Amino acid sequence: MPQDTSGLRESYLYDRATIRDIQRAADEGIYRIRGFGAKRALPHFDDLVFLGASISRYPLEGYRESCGTDVTIGADRAERPLHLDIPITIAGMSFGSLSANAKEALGRGASAVGTSTTTGDGGMTAEERRHSAKLIYQYLPSRYGMNPDDLRQADAIEVVIGQGAKPGGGGMLLGQKIDARVAEMRTLPTDIDQRSACRHPDWTGPDDLEIKIRELREITGWQVPVTVKVGATRTYYDTLLAVKSGADAIVVDGMQGGTGATQDCFIEHVGIPTLPAVRLAADALRELGLHRGAVKLIVSGGIRSGADVAKAIALGADAVSLGTAALIALGDNSPDYAEDYAALGSAPGFFDEWQGGRDPAGITTQDPDLTARLDPELGGKRVANYLRVLTLEAQTLARACGKSHVHNLEPEDLNALTVEAAAMARVPLAGTTWIPGGAL
Ligand SMILES: Cc1cc2nc3c(=O)[nH]c(=O)nc-3n(C[C@H](O)[C@H](O)[C@H](O)COP(=O)(O)O)c2cc1C
Repeated sequence: MPQDTSGLRESYLYDRATIRDIQRAADEGIYRIRGFGAKRALPHFDDLVFLGASISRYPLEGYRESCGTDVTIGADRAERPLHLDIPITIAGMSFGSLSANAKEALGRGASAVGTSTTTGDGGMTAEERRHSAKLIYQYLPSRYGMNPDDLRQADAIEVVIGQGAKPGGGGMLLGQKIDARVAEMRTLPTDIDQRSACRHPDWTGPDDLEIKIRELREITGWQVPVTVKVGATRTYYDTLLAVKSGADAIVVDGMQGGTGATQDCFIEHVGIPTLPAVRLAADALRELGLHRGAVKLIVSGGIRSGADVAKAIALGADAVSLGTAALIALGDNSPDYAEDYAALGSAPGFFDEWQGGRDPAGITTQDPDLTARLDPELGGKRVANYLRVLTLEAQTLARACGKSHVHNLEPEDLNALTVEAAAMARVPLAGTTWIPGGAL
């Protein structure tokens, strides 16, 4: 007969997960590396609600009144600004952490709905360039796979300073995922763990960012926009510095942001959540008179639904960017692979071993048998469907607030359900006029 455990009391401090972590560390003598984003509960967009129109405001009709969704990056400086039909882009995810089929599928999906996708650490694959109508090229501290010819093929450049999952840390790609093609692109050996640099080799301070952006503009003939990506920490000041350095957009990746692989302690304990980060970045742009103007704000880190998209925009973002959710749309954590996940000691909905190279869905792996499971055409359709749904949802919410463009959403359209969210997003706690904390 199974033992009755209902009377047992779990320790808050030493819960089952903590006990397992201590035992694992004692067994293995190495920190835990995993993919995915922060798993603990953090204030997020779910803690906010929209104040739909009523008597004081009137809503727009979905079937006859339009609600715009487009955004243009770099209109002031670039000969070829980046025009996105929807305010949702696909974030940079490296070839190496993802399979070539997954990179291609993301490009196909983004292109089908008029938006961009992004390369990542390790360079640009020919397939993703061919199938991405708008491709942003990441310029990273590691310089893995970087070459000026690819820079010139891009539709925008993103200078990566950091990521929300690991601000202050570099990338990680374990040997299991480094096959001949990945190794060749990075000019490094196969099968050996790679740790990407955490800072650019030729920078000693913020002034160097300005020089770097100018250099990238010269290499690309001032044709395309240059953006700067940071992990959310001192976001207000980082935004001011990125703007001073000449960025056309700042990409702020909050603490909930996903990663292909890093130390668990990094994911859970470094950076600030996406919610306050949006507000801090928007404040900095507002102070410079640039908000909803020449310099755009792109936000990522835990964006899953059209509601998240609309709330991020209401708090000040011009667009959002997706990593984890796009992989789930592609088929990651699908119940179709329940048996395979079980064989790896995991289950659909729990699989976070993106570092291990054994992903049954063929997304975060280079194993030829597994990558063959992902049909890039079908994957692209799934991603496009998902992006369409997010856009429709965001438009529905904007119309309900009486807005004819999603960019007309504002913090005033939101209330918070918790004191923490009210303080971080700086919107009133529902039913009150109270915004805890103070202005910056
Ligand atoms: C598998 C994977 C690989 C990633 N690789 C990179 C990368 O090469 N460069 C980078 O700047 N960010 C990388 N990221 C972070 C994403 O660009 C993005 O900031 C993050 O996924 C956004 O949060 P979300 O996953 O909650 O949407 C990666 C994320 C994932 C999930």
